[in-house]
Amino acid sequence: MQEIKLRELLDSLTWTEKVGQLVQLSGDFFHSEELAVGPKKKLGITQETIDVVGSVLNVTGAETIRVIQERYLQNSRHKIPLLFMADIIYGYRTIFPIPLGLGATWNPKLIEEAYGVIARESRSAGAHVTYAPMVDLVRDARWGRCLESTGEDPQLNADFAAAMVRGLQQESGREFEGIASCVKHFAAYGAAEAGREYNTVDMSERRLRQDYLSGYKSAVDAGAKLVMTSFNTYDGMPATGNEFLLKEILREEWGFDGVIISDYAAVQELIAHGVAKDEREATALAMKATNDIDMKTGCYANELESLVTDGAIDPELVDAAVWRVLKLKNDLGLFEDPYRGSTVEQEQQTLLTKENRSLARKVAQESIVLLQNKGELLPLEANKNKILLVGPYGDEQDLIGLWAVHGKSTDVVSIKEALEKELAKETFSYEKGCGLLADYQFLGEFGATKEQIHSLGMTDNEREAALNKALEAGKDADIIIYAMGEHTMQSGEAGSRTDISLPLIQKEFIEKMTELGKKNILIAISGRPLTFTKEVEQMDAILQAWFPGTEGGNALVDILFGKVNPSGRLSMGFPENVGQLPMYYNEFKTGRPLNSSTHRGRFVTKYLDSPNEPLFPFGFGLSYGRVDYEELTVSSKKMTDHLTVSIKLKNRSDYECLETVQLYIQDVTGSVVRPIKELKKYEKINLLPHEEKTVVFALQREDLYYYMKNMQFGTEAGTFNVFVGRNANDTQQAVFELL
Ligand code: GLC
Repeated sequence: MQEIKLRELLDSLTWTEKVGQLVQLSGDFFHSEELAVGPKKKLGITQETIDVVGSVLNVTGAETIRVIQERYLQNSRHKIPLLFMADIIYGYRTIFPIPLGLGATWNPKLIEEAYGVIARESRSAGAHVTYAPMVDLVRDARWGRCLESTGEDPQLNADFAAAMVRGLQQESGREFEGIASCVKHFAAYGAAEAGREYNTVDMSERRLRQDYLSGYKSAVDAGAKLVMTSFNTYDGMPATGNEFLLKEILREEWGFDGVIISDYAAVQELIAHGVAKDEREATALAMKATNDIDMKTGCYANELESLVTDGAIDPELVDAAVWRVLKLKNDLGLFEDPYRGSTVEQEQQTLLTKENRSLARKVAQESIVLLQNKGELLPLEANKNKILLVGPYGDEQDLIGLWAVHGKSTDVVSIKEALEKELAKETFSYEKGCGLLADYQFLGEFGATKEQIHSLGMTDNEREAALNKALEAGKDADIIIYAMGEHTMQSGEAGSRTDISLPLIQKEFIEKMTELGKKNILIAISGRPLTFTKEVEQMDAILQAWFPGTEGGNALVDILFGKVNPSGRLSMGFPENVGQLPMYYNEFKTGRPLNSSTHRGRFVTKYLDSPNEPLFPFGFGLSYGRVDYEELTVSSKKMTDHLTVSIKLKNRSDYECLETVQLYIQDVTGSVVRPIKELKKYEKINLLPHEEKTVVFALQREDLYYYMKNMQFGTEAGTFNVFVGRNANDTQQAVFELL
C-alpha cells in the first residue's frame, strides 16, 4: 500500500481501533468466544478489544493462521490484517543447535544460511515476525538463558546478531522475502545479578555501552524490524519504561524507527517493579518511553485511550506508535496478502526437507566442541572395539532444548539411533544405566500428571537394577560412551541454577561405572557451561554437544568416528566452579594482578580455594589434528590508520582441520582501565593435511575504539599488545605503538 494511503488509513481509525493495534494477545483469545471467556476475564479485556487487536503471540501453522485471519478480517471495519509473531529462536520445524552452540561455530556465514532456512519454514507456516535473535551478552552460566545467547563476547555476538537478522529477513533492495526479526531483550538482560532470572541489572553506562549493547546495535544496523524490551531494570528503571534506553539510545542515537514491543506482561510488571502504582501509570510510563506494543496485558487496552482523551498522554505518541505498526504490516505486504503466500500445501513442502536436515547436521557438527581427548582416544574406528552407550541421553530424542517451541522431538535422530546405523550389532550395546534427574516433581507446574512424573523417575530398586545392568554390560565393553547432561527444563527462561554440575544421580553413576577401568567418553547435553571439574579426571574424552537439534545424533557420530574433525570453539568459557561466576575473559587487570610486580603471595587478585582461570577458556576447542601457529608479525611497529597482523599456520597432521584463528588486542594504558584482552578479528580456515597457510588480519584504527574517560568513542595514542592464537589463553604476542 502506498504510504499516503497508509496515512489516510491511520487517520481514519477511531481511538479504540488505534489502541487495538498496540495490543498483542495470545492464541487462546482467537478460538471460539466461549474458550476466550477465561483469558478475557483474567486480562480484564472485552471482546471489543479482541475484535480490533493488532497482533497475535505464538500461533503458527498455515491452516490455523488462515482461519483466525479470515475470521478477524471478516469482522473488521478497517480490514487491517493481524500480525502473527512467534518464538522461533533457533529453528521452526528443522531445529538447529541452541544459539550457545551456534556461537561455538564461530561461523556467522553458516549461521546466516541456517536462519534463511528458519525464515522459509516459518513463513510457510504463516509466521510474520519472530522474537529472535536473542543477543543478550552473558557472563554467568548460572543464568538459564545462556542457552539462547551466542556467548560472552561483544564482537562475536555482534557478528552473529547481524547474520541472524539477515538470514531471517532475507532482504535485498525493496524485496523482503523472509520474516521480520525482533531482536531481544533490550537491554543487558544477561547481566542479572547472581545469575538469577529476572533479577536486577545495574552497571555503569560505560560497561553497558562497551560490552552489552553491541549485539542489539548490530541487529538494528542489519535492519531488524522490531526490538523487544527486557524484563530487567537498568539504572533503576525497568527497560519497558526506560526512556534512556528506548528513546535516547535506541531511537535517537541509533535512529531505530521500527516497532518496540514489550516482553511478556512487562508493561504491567512496572507495577511489581514499584515504578507505577497501577495499570494507568504503567501504561503512561511505557508509552512515554515509546514502547509501541503491550504484549499480553490489559494495560494499553484498558488505559491508553482515556490517557489520551484526558490529555495525560500526547496523542502524537500513540499515532506514532500505530504508524510504526501499520508500516511494519505494510513492509510485510499484509495489505496485499495477509497470508504472505502461506498455504498448507506450501508449508508441507517447506518443512523439514532433506536439505534442511542436511544443513542442520552440518551446523551441529561445527557447534560440537571437543574439550578433552586424552591419548587421542577419538576418533574411534567403527567396529574395532566393543562400545557401550549409557546414560539418560543415549536413547533420547529430546535434544532440541527449551526454546524449540514449534519443533518436534520425534523428528530427532537420537545418539543411539545414529550409532546403530554406524556399528554392527556385535560391537555396539546400550544400557540406560541411570535417569536424567532423581526428581521430576517440578514438571507438575507445566502440566505433567502425577503418573507422567512417576514414570520419568526411577525407584531405588529400578535405579539399582539399571546400574547393575550397565555395570554388567560395561565389563564386556572396551569403550563406554556416557550421554549425560541437564534436563531441558534446567536451562532456558526461568532456568537459573546455583549448582551447574551434572545432576547428582548422573555423577554417582559415572563414579561407579568408571571403576570398570574402561576408556570413557562423555557427551554433554546442556544449555549452559557446566562444571566438569571431576569429569575431566574420570573421562578420556569430552564432547560438549549443547542441545544439538534435530540432527544431533548424526552429527555426534560423524565426530566420534572422524568423518568430521571437530572445529567448535567455546563462545563462553567453562568455569572451574560456580563460585568464579560471573566470569569473562575480557576482564580488567586490577591493581594487583596475579603476576603483579609489586605484590606477592596472598595479596593479589585471587581466591584462596580456586584458580582464577576457567576450566576451559573462551575460544577453546580441540581438533583431531595439530595446527602450529608460527611467525606472528605486525606490518609496522607504529600505527596511524591501520596495520596488518599475520601468522603462519602449519597443519602437522593427517587430518583436514577447520581452524579458528583468533586475534585479540590489549590497550595497555587507557584513560580508563582496559581489558587484558579483547577479541577483534577471527577467521575460520580450512587446512588440508600438512597444509601451511598464512592468515593476514587488517587492523584499522577504528577497531581500537572504546568509550574513553569522557565517554567519547575513540582511542588514544599508546602501546597496544596484539595476541593471535587458538583461544583466549593460548596466543602469541606482538606489540605496536598507536600514534
Ligand atoms: C518470554 C520471553 C521472551 C519471549 C516472550 C514471548 O517471557 O522472555 O524471550 O519472546 O516471552 O513468548
